[in-house]
Amino acid sequence: MKILGIETSCDETALAIVEKKGQDFLVRKDLVYSQILIHKKYGGIVPEVAARAHVEKMPELLKRLGTKTNKDIDAIAVVNGPGLITSLRVGLELAKTLSFLWQKPLIAVNHIEAHIIANWLSKSNIKKIKFPALALVVSGGHTELILMKKIGDYKKIGQTLDDAAGEAFDKVAKIFELGYPGGPIIAKWAERGRADAIEFPRPLLNKNNFDFSFSGLKTAVLYEARKNKSKMKNKKYIADVCASFQEAAVDTLVGKTIKAGKKHEIKTIMLAGGVSANKWLRKEMALAIKKFLPKVNFVMPEIKYTGDNAAMVAAAGAYHAVKKDFIDWRKIDADPNLSLG
Ligand code: KG4
Ligand code: ZN
Repeated sequence: MKILGIETSCDETALAIVEKKGQDFLVRKDLVYSQILIHKKYGGIVPEVAARAHVEKMPELLKRLGTKTNKDIDAIAVVNGPGLITSLRVGLELAKTLSFLWQKPLIAVNHIEAHIIANWLSKSNIKKIKFPALALVVSGGHTELILMKKIGDYKKIGQTLDDAAGEAFDKVAKIFELGYPGGPIIAKWAERGRADAIEFPRPLLNKNNFDFSFSGLKTAVLYEARKNKSKMKNKKYIADVCASFQEAAVDTLVGKTIKAGKKHEIKTIMLAGGVSANKWLRKEMALAIKKFLPKVNFVMPEIKYTGDNAAMVAAAGAYHAVKKDFIDWRKIDADPNLSLG
């Protein structure tokens, strides 16, 4: 079974063709056009600009996909939410048009589910994933702990009460005018800093729930910077702030995940979303699982599938296609606030 995946929920325009062969996924085509260079000058994503860039870039990506695509695929999977409404609509209009034109069934995919399913794109992960599983979804818009009984059965057991983890990285980078997106830039600076240089808060870490809060942590960084205006361009100081902030954010993510893992007696923990590219998070999570939950398997998406891409959308679509979970092209609609579980 071959699925065409379409992703335009935020600032990546992406198309992919993924083949499901037995348990495994073979990524046949994987095209991602990142709009980072366009949004960089604004210091963040401008929704209207993002939607327009999707419209402008999509014809070229379709061309690169190849003229035989219509004969090659069995179904079309498109993200219908959550995301920016005008951006989502571009992908949906393309999906509806192709579904009608090529007479192929259409599948609506939740962007968060697609991030989770990105873990199945690595053959070595598939063997390790056992249920119930726990997914820590960390992206620019979401920070959620999702309990999975199986693929398609999701329960949200924790989420951020304010900013998402990625958003906090982006905002801290903005305070120091380090560039956009902040996540990879902060991670780079942090490599040269001391994580114990500044004591930042670990919000909600000791609360008896699985919710997160990153707005207080970001504000603590802002106050720290205001107190030390003269050091704002000092490289050593910036590196120390970045390392200390990253450690506080990662401590919270790891701490809550371990707590949830213990309570729900899960068999596998997985990471998902843009922030799961963070090396410190990957390393600290692996260490904590080994120490506190030694019987639990740990999997992560390959770095290239941590951010937004269409291969994860096509793979999620393949699972829906097996269950014939199709939607008429006349009925599909964008839902910017779509949630999972
Ligand atoms: O999943 P994603 O590509 O888009 C959304 O669905 O939001 O996530 C983007 C987020 C951004 O906030 C970005 O700064 C963050 O992921 N990010 C990182 C790293 N790479 C990307 N955060 C921390 N460390 C990284 N290495
Ligand atoms: Zn995403």
